[in-house]
Amino acid sequence: MKLNSELPVCKYNTPKPIVDVIAKHVPKNIITLLDPAVGEGSLIYPFIRRNLANIKKVVCIDIEQAALIKVQNQYRALLGESLELFHNDFIQWSSPLSKLESYFDCIVMNPPFCGRNDVLIKINMQDESSETTISYKHVPIEIAFIIRAIRLLKPFGKLFAVLPSSLVTSERMIWVRKFMIKMGAVLYVYEFPRYSFKRVEGRTYLLIFKKSTKHNNIVVTNKDSQASSRILINRSELTNNYRFDYAFQSAYRRYNKLIESSPYLKWEKVDNLLQIYRGSVKSPLNGKLAIHTSNFKGYHWQISSDEDQYTTDYSMRGIQNGDLLVKRVGRNCSQSIGLALNLQGIACTDCVFVLRPKKTKWSISILLALRIIANSTIGSKLIERGIGAKYIAAKSLLNLMIPIGVYESNPQCFRNYSYAVKKIMIESMLSIENKIRKNSKLYL
Ligand SMILES: C[S@@+](CC[C@H](N)C(=O)[O-])C[C@H]1O[C@@H](n2cnc3c(N)ncnc32)[C@H](O)[C@@H]1O
Repeated sequence: MKLNSELPVCKYNTPKPIVDVIAKHVPKNIITLLDPAVGEGSLIYPFIRRNLANIKKVVCIDIEQAALIKVQNQYRALLGESLELFHNDFIQWSSPLSKLESYFDCIVMNPPFCGRNDVLIKINMQDESSETTISYKHVPIEIAFIIRAIRLLKPFGKLFAVLPSSLVTSERMIWVRKFMIKMGAVLYVYEFPRYSFKRVEGRTYLLIFKKSTKHNNIVVTNKDSQASSRILINRSELTNNYRFDYAFQSAYRRYNKLIESSPYLKWEKVDNLLQIYRGSVKSPLNGKLAIHTSNFKGYHWQISSDEDQYTTDYSMRGIQNGDLLVKRVGRNCSQSIGLALNLQGIACTDCVFVLRPKKTKWSISILLALRIIANSTIGSKLIERGIGAKYIAAKSLLNLMIPIGVYESNPQCFRNYSYAVKKIMIESMLSIENKIRKNSKLYL
């Protein structure tokens, strides 16, 4: 495993509300403790306080000498020779030949996470775990910290890790979440509000993991307010997305209850109703135009210049009669589902998804059912992913259940809706959608 020399160093101290939650979970009888990115040492304090009588070794690592001097000043008198400080890059310090494998009772860390996808670390999972074949992965630094920390923990040892939302929510990191569950149990996931770290827009998470053990439930807690709320997720409920975040799991539960209580709305999986194609033109555009996210203006999809200026695409990825379009990326992308009126044969950029109903005549009923869900708070949580820059994963959209029967239960409204869609009467569309939501008791 190699550390890229351009790796940015992030050094915000761990915010107090996160340290307070960690303090509540500190185990007793810790003999060996590690903080691999110790900073000023605020995370080790509750562990030392609780275990002062028995702790034998506290290993602290930081890439910055100045941080270690502060830790030295604060803890040397208390810990004496038990405190070991290493001015090093943790990833190199813990290289696969490290003698400290399966050594620590507890590891607490708030590793650097700068959210840059261009600076990745190459690891071979064969060196890191019991995998039998060579398997190279390029991972952000916080993921390299996680994988290494798990290796350094004793069986039944505990890891406390402060992490960005990518590990907990993103599709790309499902393999890491599965790896954690294979190597032990994720006991708790705390979700902290956006900007818990001053300059981090996304939410921050605290994961508590125990090695070499199996637990049926993960306790997922939201810490947005003093009165935090929590839910238990059974491992069998993780299904294929392995999401550990409260925001998604609570929305998903409420949504499933709604589906169970309204079978008359004929809930149908989007996968059964339409196919998704990603636009064929690589963005950003050069030369000729193609339908891009900026073509969703005034709540509908339109072209501002002459049709001749647009690239044509008569393949499956170009627009056909009856297609719906949605922004694949961008803020509130889930709220951009609209009918592609008079845009047949035009190409889309790869920032746009073309949603093709399996039968053209279903277009408007699918549009209605999709928009009723997607333009709601729960819907956006179920469909959108990402931190600041949101995006839609085709798989999440295809797995979504939508109330395709709403048009049958509201026949007059649906006739008016079809008219409003075809005549691009946006306000009428929105007000009919709201009325149907109310009539159908879809409080989302
Ligand atoms: C978010 S801070 C940790 C703050 C600490 N928990 C506290 O509350 O004081 C991250 C720390 O990781 C250190 N760091 C960054 N890259 C590192 C690396 N590759 N190895 C070890 N430490 C690193 C930074 O110098 C910084 O002190």
